[in-house]
Amino acid sequence: MSSLPPARILAIETSCDETACAIIENGRALLASTVASQMELHARFGGVYPEVASRQHVLSIVPVVEQTLVQANVTLNDIDAIAVTRGPGLAGSLVVGMNMAKGLALGTGLPIVGVNHLEGHIYSAWVYHAGESAPPEPQFPLMALLVSGGHTELNLMTDHLTYQRLGSTLDDAAGEAFDKVARLLSLPYPGGPSIQRAAEGGDPARFKFPRARLDSPYDFSFSGLKTAVLYEVNDLKKKNKFLPVEDLAASFQAAVVETLFEKTMQAAREFKVREILVAGGVSANRALRNVFMSQREFKVNIPAFSLCTDNAAMIAAAGYYRYGRGHVSGLEMDVQPTWALS
Ligand code: KG4
Ligand code: ZN
Repeated sequence: MSSLPPARILAIETSCDETACAIIENGRALLASTVASQMELHARFGGVYPEVASRQHVLSIVPVVEQTLVQANVTLNDIDAIAVTRGPGLAGSLVVGMNMAKGLALGTGLPIVGVNHLEGHIYSAWVYHAGESAPPEPQFPLMALLVSGGHTELNLMTDHLTYQRLGSTLDDAAGEAFDKVARLLSLPYPGGPSIQRAAEGGDPARFKFPRARLDSPYDFSFSGLKTAVLYEVNDLKKKNKFLPVEDLAASFQAAVVETLFEKTMQAAREFKVREILVAGGVSANRALRNVFMSQREFKVNIPAFSLCTDNAAMIAAAGYYRYGRGHVSGLEMDVQPTWALS
């Protein structure tokens, strides 16, 4: 897929509530990946509690890196560069991964590469397990729909590491909307998987929730949809009616999926892309995957389930391309909690 020299990258990701490390060869072949999830820790708060997250990263990071090296059956002598998530994310969480990466770089003399978390999500789509056959290489130009807990955006990608942002959310991110609506429906954190599960038994046509129509065709807005669910829930409660959680979840999910799908298809047609890529935590959603996989107009690439939500394999993958093109950072590199992709 690339004319870049071979390299083995060890990456660290601690931007939110997963402490993760992975080792990848040549940007795609995954040797090992470890994700220590803090999900249970944050579930009782109904969302990520930043101070708790950074403290847990401090406890987990060394064992996670050690376990990844053991699993890959390599030592630091076999690694060519260290990649680390520089942002966007929670400052206190990013700092833990950054300092671990700097410590490794200082101790070994290896170069260090700062990676944008969103770029990582995009590169997760080309990762495969070493030893298995490699899926097709990217075909540019491609349309990338990024849907995570903090971001929702459409990027036209004309080459490796080259993005043009066509639009993004004006308020809530898609994942954030899933999380907030789950809370409204008293479904457990994280909201995305809970809504998906509830929606499986529900009627997506029962409630006609709004699909935001905006002046800018490739921007998104989900706060009106969230408010519409809130009003419906309040109304039903006022009337002392039984809350049809499954139908509410299915109708909400249908509105999100339809909006994401239609805007992406429109952008893909306008820019005459060769393929569509869907990545980020919400790309784990079965309804979203199904609607993209069932159309025949464009080739679609969606990461394996295990690589949709936060992990370090994606950071290693993007890090390989950054490293290969000489984007090496110095040890004075700082985290960038609000770093935009383009
Ligand atoms: O990419 P990610 O792991 O973290 C961020 O970078 O934000 O995305 C997390 C988001 C959460 O909002 C979570 O509810 C959502 O992805 N998510 C899902 C599903 N799995 C995770 N949303 C819908 N359906 C899912 N199956
Ligand atoms: Zn993410």
